Amino acid sequence: MLRNFTCGELSISNINQQVTLCGWVQKNRKLGGMTFIDLRDRYGITQLVFNSEQNAELCKTAEQIGREWVIQAKGIVAERYNKNKNIPTGEIEILVAELTVLNRSEIPPFTIEDESDGGDELRMKYRYLDLRRNPVKKNIIFRHHLAIEVRNYMNSIGFLEIETPFLIKSTPEGARDFIVPSRMNQGEFYALPQSPQNFKQLLMISGYDRYFQIVRCFRDEDLRADRQPEFTQIDCEMSFVEQDDILQTFEGLVKHVFKKVKNIEIEAIPRMTFEEAMRLYGCDKPDTRFDMQFVELNDTLKHREFSVFNHAELIVGIVAKGCANYSRKQLDALTEFVKRPQIGAGGLVYVVCQQEDTYKSSVDKFYNQEDLKRLATKCNAESGDLILIMSGDTDKVRKQLCELRLEMGKQLDLRKAGVYKPLWVTDFPLLEWDDETLRYYAKHHPFTSPKPEHIPLLETNPGAVNANAYDLVINGTEIGGGSIRIYNKELQQKMFSILGFTPEEAQQQFGFLMNAFQYGSPPHGGIAFGLDRMCAILCDSESIRDFIAFPKNNSGRDTMLDAPAKISKTQLDELGIKSLNY
Ligand code: AMO
Repeated sequence: MLRNFTCGELSISNINQQVTLCGWVQKNRKLGGMTFIDLRDRYGITQLVFNSEQNAELCKTAEQIGREWVIQAKGIVAERYNKNKNIPTGEIEILVAELTVLNRSEIPPFTIEDESDGGDELRMKYRYLDLRRNPVKKNIIFRHHLAIEVRNYMNSIGFLEIETPFLIKSTPEGARDFIVPSRMNQGEFYALPQSPQNFKQLLMISGYDRYFQIVRCFRDEDLRADRQPEFTQIDCEMSFVEQDDILQTFEGLVKHVFKKVKNIEIEAIPRMTFEEAMRLYGCDKPDTRFDMQFVELNDTLKHREFSVFNHAELIVGIVAKGCANYSRKQLDALTEFVKRPQIGAGGLVYVVCQQEDTYKSSVDKFYNQEDLKRLATKCNAESGDLILIMSGDTDKVRKQLCELRLEMGKQLDLRKAGVYKPLWVTDFPLLEWDDETLRYYAKHHPFTSPKPEHIPLLETNPGAVNANAYDLVINGTEIGGGSIRIYNKELQQKMFSILGFTPEEAQQQFGFLMNAFQYGSPPHGGIAFGLDRMCAILCDSESIRDFIAFPKNNSGRDTMLDAPAKISKTQLDELGIKSLNY
């Protein structure tokens, strides 16, 4: 080894010891006859000292060393005169006797310190330098611990980690595939897996009744803070189980991970049906760190002179506790918030609950004090509270009020960092109707089983069929999703036909799976968690990029590699791709 200690471990107990350290020069400063270097490695920072009176030559060499040079220093550990309480090695320094420059560095394009002067773009282009910074390094190490704890737990309850292929066949359902041309089979293409869904089902048929894999998935979809084109799933499948067995098993995993990586005890994870989540929070991934549940108000507010409400399919409100003192300006800002094109509401009605059962509202013209009192009672609102009401088509208005609820949660500081509220959302609909293409899509994926008691509805009212499908939501983010699967050929064929496949298309795309179902397929189900998202949520971070060593930017580019990139004419020829002209 070129070193016998790291830059993060020496302390008072090492005084007078002869040590050799290696690392990067974070800072180099001269103070009178002394030169000080902060030497950094993965483990920390240690101060090196050079005294010109004792060794003028060495001190001169040290002075010339620039930021990010890689050096080796040999010397004696000494107690520091000016102690630095902020770092673990702050009580000691190394009186250097020998110095070797292992490699020089160009001046880095941004400062490699906790607070960097580099913008996002620049730091992405030089990601290998960004990864030297503590805040990024901390996240990468966190991810490692999380993954190890997942493996420990899954192994402890008998799950086998089994790898599945990356070069597979493109299928029409789900997001867009990333495509890989085949040289040996010209004109034909592999696709990169969006998830190992079919393979894990095949493994169940093969008898590997508890499978998991920490696995890269690829989806060519529009990117957001919580979406990357390649991301990692903790993918799991079990045989001979029902929904409750899966929820119990993976509740165990969630508890284990929280305890091990955050030292937080998670209580039993509450469950809520999709229908309840939509009715009470307007979305299928509610942030339950705060209450502010929806109150449906059709019965209370219809049948007065207010035609907007009379024509609405749904009138629904929330109570903002203690917000009766909101100024006109603040109320107008809320109205503007919901009218923004991203939300698209027509307007917002407010009712201020003043002292002694008196009310002030934006619809005083249509509702008298009695009406408003009835409304306040219905909403459980007290004096000092503010009721915010929206109306319109059910799906739309729920979505809009959901955004307003989250905004109020933010304004009132109810979405607290460091508070974690996991929730199982269950009983998702099997299908989702699309008005544009006029067909059903699988809400989860086409391999999800209808609830057995709903199977007859597939013929008469497919839209009303529910599935034993579930999501794990934490603080308003979908962290995982799964379902009980179809495991017989006829039902799978039926599902494909509802999704608009001809029998031939279904056979051609998914024949391998349906054939496999004919050779003794056990009842099975599973779930996949987003590892990147799990890291981000556990660290109260907005973006999963912070937890990926080499992420893509929002246009799906790796600016460091400059990928994607053109390929050579020879490569195109080998692949038999002729129509690209550049
Ligand atoms: P699903 O598509 O719900 O299910 O994905 C499971 C989890 O993966 C994460 N995730 C993502 N994370 C980052 N970037 C993305 N682009 C991205 N897309 C998804 C989410 C999500 O909850 N095969 C099924 C699972 C199953 O049924 O067992 C599946 O892939 O956290």
